[in-house]
Amino acid sequence: MVGAMTTPVTLASLQQMMVRGEKIACLTCYDSSFTRVLESAGVEVFIIGDSLGMVLKGHESTVPVTVADMIYHAANVARVGESALRVVDMPFSSYVNPDQALGNAARLMGEGGAHMVKLEGGANKAAIVAHLVGHGIPVCGHIGLLPQSVHKLGGYKVQGRDDAGARALLDDARALEEAGAGLLVTECIPADLATQITAAVTIPTIGIGAGPGCDGQVLVLYDMLGITPGKRPRFVRDFLRDTCSVPAAIEAYVAAVKNGSFPAAEHCF
Ligand code: KIV
Repeated sequence: MVGAMTTPVTLASLQQMMVRGEKIACLTCYDSSFTRVLESAGVEVFIIGDSLGMVLKGHESTVPVTVADMIYHAANVARVGESALRVVDMPFSSYVNPDQALGNAARLMGEGGAHMVKLEGGANKAAIVAHLVGHGIPVCGHIGLLPQSVHKLGGYKVQGRDDAGARALLDDARALEEAGAGLLVTECIPADLATQITAAVTIPTIGIGAGPGCDGQVLVLYDMLGITPGKRPRFVRDFLRDTCSVPAAIEAYVAAVKNGSFPAAEHCF
């Protein structure tokens, strides 16, 4: 069903959607005006993403984003948010050890109103995930293309294309689930691999450039409204182009995720 929700989305309700085979509609969100529009359109999960460093602040990557930036934007969303589950990114260098991660995650929840924090990495981050979860902080994992590691990766490239890379990502997904992650973002990986990962874990997967086999989909809001400058990545569809307004574009996105028409083959790797 597409349209405004009345009851707040929880990890338990996302689990139920996964079991029912109902796709989860997720978008990034950074402010109060869009919070109202996205919730009215029925978006179930917001990622207050560190992509805000690029689409709002004009940086070339997410690396310069700070915990203070994340708190500012997350709090703007939380102030008016009623129904969507709010997942807030832990920015670069804010989770290098378990205690530093715990202090920063607690601020994102306490000052930023996060329901869950997200951090990039796989098995190498399992101890940090377990530490946060052990202190009552819900964690969303993020594997595949890790934008905070863009300088290490040498660019924004599809991950897991070869057998070894694919096996490593499957192991990462299992390690994050075992550490207690409650949700998993898979970014820019082959569609077949994302389907395998989704089958291998019991927590919902949310794909971005990961094909239709995930339990849900996410896009950067400004990308799907067609206002991000430069060449549009293959996995993005401009939903504003064929609609007459921003609210209609968001509704079209939610409908396309729910009925499985997005992502189509042309958006997949
Ligand atoms: O920062 C971001 O926008 C993200 C995306 C994967 C949604 O993490």
